[in-house]
Amino acid sequence: MKTYKDILRDFEAIAGPIAPHAEVLKRYADTLAKWDDFMAKAFYDTLFSYRPTASVFREGERAEREETLKAWYRKVVSGEYDEDFWDWQYHRVGLSHVARAIPNEFMLPAMSMVQRAFLERVKEEFPPEEAAIIYAAFKHITDAVATLIAAGYMYTYLSAVSESTGMSPTLIERHAVLIARRGYGKKG
Ligand code: HEM
Repeated sequence: MKTYKDILRDFEAIAGPIAPHAEVLKRYADTLAKWDDFMAKAFYDTLFSYRPTASVFREGERAEREETLKAWYRKVVSGEYDEDFWDWQYHRVGLSHVARAIPNEFMLPAMSMVQRAFLERVKEEFPPEEAAIIYAAFKHITDAVATLIAAGYMYTYLSAVSESTGMSPTLIERHAVLIARRGYGKKG
């Protein structure tokens, strides 16, 4: 199975390198970091306004969650990405959600909403050309994180099925190909 480094390599080969976007964010990091309250509020107002996502949270958990989201956002806009940063995105940000049974169909729209909230703010605060460059940088990095989250979810489930059935991941993947060819979930 792939490691998070393999997944990042795939991401950069297909979507483009991360380093130039990291340089852009580094130049604006001080200003962007100040939007952490705004981002956390937009994020949790949305998740708490939809019952299926709101019901994931424990009583009184919101304040703690807002702090972790703010810390995550500040780190993302810092543009400083070392191995620990990507390891954290995969093994903590990604897998802590798998451990709370939060599916990709919640995670990926949540990232899309983060990107949209950022876009609204960047358009308000910067002239259009500068805003477009900053947004492209933020989108690229958060797309890379979303890719790690989605892949981590799939590989965790693959490991779970493999461990519990004794089937190898390759055999499970082959079986998934067969099910997909049959048209999984197709009407009739
Ligand atoms: C892509 C969007 C998301 C990002 C960037 C994000 C970010 C984070 C971060 C940084 C943490 C702390 C991880 C750590 O322990 O280091 C966290 C934890 C958590 N998040 Fe998210 N989150 C996202 C989506 C969601 C969604 C959609 C939900 C619920 C529907 C959710 C619910 C939670 C919960 C319950 C925890 C606590 C996990 C635990 O028990 O440790 N998150 N999130």
